[in-house]
Amino acid sequence: MKNQPRRVENVQTDKGSVPVYATGIVEQPWDEYTAADHDVWRQLYERQREVLIGRASDEFLVAQDAMGMTPDRIPRFSDLNAIMRDATGWEIIGVEGLLPELDFFDHLANRRFPVTWWIRTPEQIDYISEPDLFHDLFGHVPLLMNPMFSDYMQAYGRGGVKAHAIGADALQNLTRLYWYTVEFGLIRQPDGLRIYGSGIVSSKGESIHCLESDAPNRIGFDLERIMRTRYRIDSYQKTYFVIDSFQQLMEATEPDFTPIYARLAQMDSIPAGTVLPTDTVYHRGTGEGWPSDADV
Ligand SMILES: [Fe+2]
Repeated sequence: MKNQPRRVENVQTDKGSVPVYATGIVEQPWDEYTAADHDVWRQLYERQREVLIGRASDEFLVAQDAMGMTPDRIPRFSDLNAIMRDATGWEIIGVEGLLPELDFFDHLANRRFPVTWWIRTPEQIDYISEPDLFHDLFGHVPLLMNPMFSDYMQAYGRGGVKAHAIGADALQNLTRLYWYTVEFGLIRQPDGLRIYGSGIVSSKGESIHCLESDAPNRIGFDLERIMRTRYRIDSYQKTYFVIDSFQQLMEATEPDFTPIYARLAQMDSIPAGTVLPTDTVYHRGTGEGWPSDADV
């Protein structure tokens, strides 16, 4: 019988009621993964790699190969860490699940990426509402091999520690930036738009939807615009934001955000599906199938 993650409580956040787990770092219980666990990893890995060739950014695919992840079995964190430390100085730490925000930011600021140790069940192959090992490891970890992107993640962690001290509105602005870049970002390559966001690369349905559906907007990256934009946690995104390069992302985080937060506090938030006259529009969504209730 496999260990169960230690869930502490549910807390109310801007994302609704979310589970918060014990915050300690845990040793990955690799020997306790069952054949079914390894098989879930294999199925998801093979399926996503097939979907992602030609859809994920070149940087993501190259980084994933360089890490030595394979579909054969769930990777050992210690094996991946040896490679990552050499490449960018990042390491994976095992955790029970979603962390309180400040703990999460502090880990990123110190180049530690928390990865949930447990993997979804076979019944949850197509959808799970909270991050598991597959989302964290397959989705987030590869780009930590990329020097520019990994610097962005650290800068985000430092920004998170600051925003946490400033207040709830600043934190919400910053969370939206994470959502629309790290989780659901697209990047422009010479041969077209590609995916780099972890929430997309770990989802077969959204990997296809974000690039090929007419429904969502695809809009050029704009830091302050993104910080004002609401989002969906229960459906595909209504809008995806497109960067030109990871350098653009990194440069956008260089200014001190404190005056930006103060300015944005005077402005209304933007509904997830809205297109503004000032947007760089790559595709204006038809809005087909969009939920009509309010965005987060
Ligand atoms: Fe994530």
